[in-house]
Amino acid sequence: TDTPLAFRQTPSSKARILAERDAILANPGFGKHFTDHMVSIDWTVEAGWHDAQVTPYGPLLLDPAASVLHYGQEIFEGMKAYRHADGSIWTFRPEANGARLQRSAKRLALPELPIDLFVESVRQLVKIDANWVPSAPETSLYLRPFMIANETFLGVRSAQKAAYYVIASPAGPYFAKGVAPVAIWVSSDYARAAKGGTGAAKCGGNYAASLLPQMEASEHGCAQVLFCDPQEGKYLEELGGMNVFLVMKDGTLVTPELSGSILEGVTRSSILQLARDRGMKVEERKVTLDEWRRGFETGDVAEAFACGTAAVVTPIGALKAKDFEVGDISAPAGKVTMSLRQELTDIQYGRLPDTHGWMTRL
Ligand code: COI
Repeated sequence: TDTPLAFRQTPSSKARILAERDAILANPGFGKHFTDHMVSIDWTVEAGWHDAQVTPYGPLLLDPAASVLHYGQEIFEGMKAYRHADGSIWTFRPEANGARLQRSAKRLALPELPIDLFVESVRQLVKIDANWVPSAPETSLYLRPFMIANETFLGVRSAQKAAYYVIASPAGPYFAKGVAPVAIWVSSDYARAAKGGTGAAKCGGNYAASLLPQMEASEHGCAQVLFCDPQEGKYLEELGGMNVFLVMKDGTLVTPELSGSILEGVTRSSILQLARDRGMKVEERKVTLDEWRRGFETGDVAEAFACGTAAVVTPIGALKAKDFEVGDISAPAGKVTMSLRQELTDIQYGRLPDTHGWMTRL
């Protein structure tokens, strides 16, 4: 789109009782409550992106034959809006999320949304729902942009009609216990992604495939499931909904290299940058499950953590599998883990200067 799309605004008439909003903001949890408005933009092959709207939050009307309901043609993003001490509202690296949504769109044969329109869509929603951005420590407004194919057609082919939406949800920590160390369950029976598959795309189907192994993880008292590579089941890939890092005894930061089936996390790349800035040795390489397991036993792997927009940086205390269990979630969180978490959140909440140009004021 050469001319920027104007957003048509229909403010919500359903007056939410302020006390109700304040109660939600005081204890938001994760992904349970939604703001008063949403954004939608339609797309067709003929007209391209059109009819950008800010409307009251509410159900979608979908034809039962809408392709997304049959073939899972859906992609999404995860971002946050942060309230700074002076009341201003900011988001973190939105262009990176916009670019990833385009890559996901390409893989899922959905239309690519221009990045400036993506950023503007988020700005529009946060502007009208600014009062929903919480200000308590470690809280934020979680933003969920997503796109579906909504053509009424059961033939299996790429979408000729699609819709993009943004919804928002006030958020506290993703894990119920807050920032405490979690245990991770190694999935040995299931893979998250295949070679040449959709693993690097942020599509709903990847998360659908993670749910059964995630249930297995929960049954074993673990907060997340770890997937290994789909070929040999030997190399770490990622967790059900976040990337994974190890901190070695010598201080080296290690994370699985992008394999084509790993999600290219914005938090992942930011952590790598912060570590490099500190002069830490950083390795993106193949990491075997065995290296992590033995390392936890010998102390060669000093710390491990999960990271993502939702998870931020969450320490991993223990690793469990069918045939072994190492680590201890009651041990204190690792120092490197917690200081990287601190630095990242200090930048996001405006407590440290944004030397990388990562923050965008909304
Ligand atoms: C995010 O971190 O934003 C995600 O999309 C992952 C999901 C587990 C909430």
